[in-house]
Amino acid sequence: MQNYTYLVNREHILKAEDIPEDLVVCEFPFCAEESEEKRKLRKAAADAAGRLLEYGKSFGYTLYGVSGYRSYERQKEIYHQRLQETPAEVVNQYVAKPGTSEHQTGLALDVSSPEVDYELEEIFAETPEGKWLAVYAPMFGFILRYPKGKENITGYAYEPWHIRYVGKSLSLYLSLTGMTLEEYHQI
Ligand code: DAL
Ligand code: ZN
Repeated sequence: MQNYTYLVNREHILKAEDIPEDLVVCEFPFCAEESEEKRKLRKAAADAAGRLLEYGKSFGYTLYGVSGYRSYERQKEIYHQRLQETPAEVVNQYVAKPGTSEHQTGLALDVSSPEVDYELEEIFAETPEGKWLAVYAPMFGFILRYPKGKENITGYAYEPWHIRYVGKSLSLYLSLTGMTLEEYHQI
């Protein structure tokens, strides 16, 4: 788990013992206490997300972190909890099975805003904050990992709230070309 560009998806799977070594507590506005696991990200991603959200403030936009790092065990709990309430075919469009979630890399962050009650819903994309995030995230090294229209490639529904740190050169390249991380890794 060294670099920032590697692929984690249904085919590229992490082991339960894959835990990033450089996780830090995020200091920017977050819908979680400092003691909570989900408040963490890998150092480079935490620093970049802090700069991104701070820059958003200068536009008058309030953005919060909602969920960052998740261990294999936590993803397992979430996945199984969701299956109690929701049909599997719907769950599988939104929630990764344990070992297949980017949140286990410590490089993925779910972002939301007060305007949508900090929910992770598609309506976030229509808000000024959601639109701003889509444009400016790549300038700070993040991509919108599950874009609209690429569901068949990423394997997930549109998630305008989920950003993934890949480093600035790749984020800019992917945003300019409109490629997903899956497509990039097939080149
Ligand atoms: N929502 C994304 C796909 C995850 O569970 O990692
Ligand atoms: Zn996410």
